This record gives sequence, structure tokens and C-alpha cells, in this order.
Amino acid sequence: MRNGVLAFSRTGEIVLINPEACRIFGLPVDGAHLGQAYADVLRDHHDIVRVLSGAFELAHLPNRAELRLKPTDKVIGYTLSLVQDEAGVSVGAALFFKDLTRVEQLEERERLRDRLAAIGEMAAAVAHEIKNPLAGIEVMAGLLRRQVPEDRAAQALIADIISESKMANAIVQEMLDFVRPVRLQLDRTSVGLAIQNAVTMADGTPARGSISVRIDAAADLPPIQGDRHQLVQVFTNLLTNAYEALEGRGSVVITARLVTDEEAGALPLDGLHPVPTVVVDVTDDGPGLDPALTDKIFNPFFTTKPQGSGLGLAIVRKIVDAHDGRIDVASTPGRGTRFRVALPVSSGDALVR
Ligand SMILES: Nc1ncnc2c1ncn2[C@@H]1O[C@H](COP(=O)(O)OP(=O)(O)OP(=O)(O)O)[C@@H](O)[C@H]1O
Ligand SMILES: [Mg+2]
Repeated sequence: MRNGVLAFSRTGEIVLINPEACRIFGLPVDGAHLGQAYADVLRDHHDIVRVLSGAFELAHLPNRAELRLKPTDKVIGYTLSLVQDEAGVSVGAALFFKDLTRVEQLEERERLRDRLAAIGEMAAAVAHEIKNPLAGIEVMAGLLRRQVPEDRAAQALIADIISESKMANAIVQEMLDFVRPVRLQLDRTSVGLAIQNAVTMADGTPARGSISVRIDAAADLPPIQGDRHQLVQVFTNLLTNAYEALEGRGSVVITARLVTDEEAGALPLDGLHPVPTVVVDVTDDGPGLDPALTDKIFNPFFTTKPQGSGLGLAIVRKIVDAHDGRIDVASTPGRGTRFRVALPVSSGDALVR
């Protein structure tokens, strides 16, 4: 049964609790709770205890209500009903509930996608309009340079104008690249190789310094259905961020492993059945992230760096999404940051094809 069920007597003892209920409440699945008071067993879940304690008092019991379980941070949808004997006397009550956490996450991703689409359209329009006058500035500065061949001060200024407009053009181009929908060239791709390429690419970052980098890829990693170049870009962006956070000192560890259990991070592409998934962790021992920022870092243009464009992680997320993958971040301020990329070995489309 995919729903949690918890039944209890009028005196508050648990008569039935199924394994799914134990899982959602974070309790051991061993039957030891039968006969115990629900108020004891669920002492960490004050909100649930409050709901259950109203079972025999309320005229209208909650039906399809929602609640966030603070200790496990799960969202449940629940219905509370009375259990009556033949004479119509309420002898107990039962709580039926369902873990809605994943549904909520999907909705959140959907909202983010809509927001990105709107921002993207605007950015594309602006970028397109700016590109023409920029090109004009560059061409005219080039003409002007030829008119004052002897004037060294003017030549220097004009060279600056040209290089600044080239830079602006590069930013605009980056923006256009970002808003363009990701098109994957799917192929059998080695994630281990993509990581190695990314390490080589990220070696060019100014912040590279003397940071130690270790790759720990499991020997049994199968190739995945992926776009090699875009995956290299994912890991390059994550590595560059780690190097920049470390400011030249510290260590980065990249691990890659194959998982098949949902608990271990395997992705249920159809919402039900987990598929084999390659999980890559990029962990640094840098300053970490302010917890208030973790929701924002994937937004386009969010940056805490004076020279940052804030597109790195937004692009990473887009590419991972296009692979039907998932990206997460966990960080402890002062200790470091871990980005986790989960990529299905075969994406949903590829399975159908
Ligand atoms: N490993 C990390 N440790 C600490 N903070 C990080 C880490 N990775 C990302 N961040 C934070 O997330 C923000 C957004 O990162 P993102 O890669 O999207 O943009 P950026 O690095 O600032 O700019 P860009 O990548 O476009 O040059 C960063 O400015 C930084 O504050
Ligand atoms: Mg970055």
C-alpha cells in the first residue's frame, strides 16, 4: 500500500500502523508500536498528535488536509475518520495519509520553469536589441581608429572602446546561449570521462591556485545517455564555482557512483519506479553557503561575485533538467559545499525510443 495508515483505539493505543506510515514518520518498521500510546510513539510529531487528539471531539474531521512534518520535512496529505462498531459507537479512529513531498517538489520545479521561461524571453529580446548597436559601436570605433593613426592617446582610448564592446558582446552572447532551449546530442557518454575533461577545462580558471582535486569514480559506472559536451560544461561550472569559493586553497573531491535504490538517490522517472542513476558529488571544503541563499543560487543572474554573471548554476540546472536529472546542494557554513548531480543512465525519452 502506498498510503500510510494509522489506526488507534478510543484510549489512544495504536491498533495498526503500516510500514509506509512508519517510513513517513521516520519510525522503525518492526511492529513494536502496536499497543503503545500514539502520543508516545509520535512524540516528535506534535502536529500529528494534535490532529489525532481531536478525533473524538471534532464535529468535522479533517478530510484531504495537508501538513508539514517538521522533524522529517515531509509534506503529507491526510484524512482522519472514525471507526465505528455495529451499533454505530466510535471505537477508534484511523488516519490515512500520503507523502506529498515529491508532488510538491515537482510543482516547485514547474513554477521555476515558468519563471525561467518568462525571464528567458525578456532576456532574449533585450540581448537581441543590444547586439546591433554594440556591433555598430565596434565598427565605428574601428573606422575612427584609422582616421587618427598618429594620435597615440586617441588610439589607446579607441582600443579600450573596442575591447569593452567586445566584452559586452560576449556577455550578451552568453545570455542568448542561456535562454536558447537546450538541445541534447544524446550518445553513450562516460560520466567519468566528462568529469576528467571538466577538471582539465577548469584548470584554466584564475582561482585554480594550489587546490587539490581528487576524482573517485566507481569502476562499475555504465555509460549514460547524455550529451558529452554539455555534461562537461555542468562539471566545469561546478568546479569553477568550487575553486572560486576556495580562493586558491583547499580541496575538491568528485565522486561518481551507480545507484539503483531510491533511498540512495536513484531517480523515479515515472514518479514510481527508480531507474539506474549515476550520482556525482562535487564537494569542496570552502566557506559554504549562507542557508538563506541556497534557494536562490540556481536563479539566473544571482551572484555574490563582483565579476560573476550568475548564469553558471542556472545553465547547470538547465542541462541537468534536459537529461531528466536532478541537482541538489547541501552546505554547512564554514565547512564546505556539496553539489549532487543525479543522472539517469537512460532518460525517459531514450527508454521509449
Ligand atoms: N561551491 C560553492 N561554494 C560557495 N558558494 C557557491 C558555490 N557554488 C556557487 N556558490 C554561490 O552561488 C552563486 C551563483 O553561482 P553561479 O555559478 O550561478 O554564478 P557565479 O559563479 O556567481 O557567476 P558565473 O558562474 O556566471 O561566473 C555564486 O555567486 C556563489 O555565491
Ligand atoms: Mg559560477
